[in-house]
Amino acid sequence: TIFDNAQEGAVTLAYEIAELIRSKQRKGEMVVLGLATGSSPISVYRELVRLHREEGLSFRNVITFNLDEYYPMQPDELQSYVYFMHEHLFDHIDILPQNIHIPDGTLPIDKVKDYCQAYEKQIEECGGLDLQLLGIGRTGHIGFNEPGSAITSTTRLVKLDPLTITDAAKDFIKEEYVPLRALTMGVGTIMKARKIMLMAWGEGKAKILHKTVEGRVSDEVPASFLQLHPRVAVVVDQWAAAEL
Ligand code: GLP
Repeated sequence: TIFDNAQEGAVTLAYEIAELIRSKQRKGEMVVLGLATGSSPISVYRELVRLHREEGLSFRNVITFNLDEYYPMQPDELQSYVYFMHEHLFDHIDILPQNIHIPDGTLPIDKVKDYCQAYEKQIEECGGLDLQLLGIGRTGHIGFNEPGSAITSTTRLVKLDPLTITDAAKDFIKEEYVPLRALTMGVGTIMKARKIMLMAWGEGKAKILHKTVEGRVSDEVPASFLQLHPRVAVVVDQWAAAEL
């Protein structure tokens, strides 16, 4: 769906998420959301906070799993995705703290493998992801699944692409302060979600969006694997859609 601007797209995405939460609430069920960071989802989270404050949308039945986190990263650092999620969403809604999951960037390296397997297991034990919200990086990454990521990949420690490091530099003052690695759900983890919503705003995403939606399905553009998913919505503004 192509919107005139990002704000309209974000409101629609937030409305869909809210509807899913409410429909599960009516059935007395929990809903499991996969959440993203970066600048793209900020306006979606702002709208969800507004729906909570002004329209009584409750998040008591919501379980969340975030896609990724830099490694190493302390949760109280300004660039951490833990900090981001609390600042933009969790601190402003009534989600229960025990229902929030974000990959732990503080683990010693020898604990990472088991931790990643446990993260996968936790998602499964909650019944799997009902909905995964995604942004897209200019390398075609979803989460931090950089080019070369297999369609079957699961949660793991990855190396960031040089372009991703350049793009992240704005948050870290200098490029050399950007961590070289990250923990991320795999493409396979994402593909198991029952529904996926990919958002992209602005002309900077036009090229990669074209490759993602209309290009060859290949690990050179990990987001192109989404073409194989049966229920994926691509929500963009007119600038990101410029090359479609
Ligand atoms: C980071 C995140 C991705 C996100 C991407 C795009 O690399 N790990 O999940 O999609 O940035 O960021 P932005 O939305 O700021 O363009």
